[in-house]
Amino acid sequence: MIGRLNHVAIVTGNLEAAAALYRDALGAAVSLPQALPEHGVRVVFVELPNTKVELMEPLGEGSPIAGFLAKNPAGGLHHVCYEVGDIRAAAAQLQASGARVLGDGEPRIGAHGKPVLFIHPKDMGGVLTELEEV
Ligand code: CO
Repeated sequence: MIGRLNHVAIVTGNLEAAAALYRDALGAAVSLPQALPEHGVRVVFVELPNTKVELMEPLGEGSPIAGFLAKNPAGGLHHVCYEVGDIRAAAAQLQASGARVLGDGEPRIGAHGKPVLFIHPKDMGGVLTELEEV
């Protein structure tokens, strides 16, 4: 059922500094910052040979990651995203095993224009887990 690791998402309070770390200290290909106001974040995409790292900074009032940054002022791992072929089937299988799907359980269109769902971190070993249908 589970496919590639699509991305790892990391919250930061200073997007430019985080991007510089990956670009200059690690030698990664780093995108320009992009504002995604509909998701309440500014992001930089770090392209790796086998996956991506998404650096996210809160944007605007009520950003969904503002609380995370308040609890983790130094930033930190926010979620991992795995690719699945059939997101409803994947969610049903996880729910059958006792995992909770966040929200109303319906896939939403995520930041990459594809259907996504989030699984409760307490049911995933403490890691907020995103599924993306590809
Ligand atoms: Co994500």
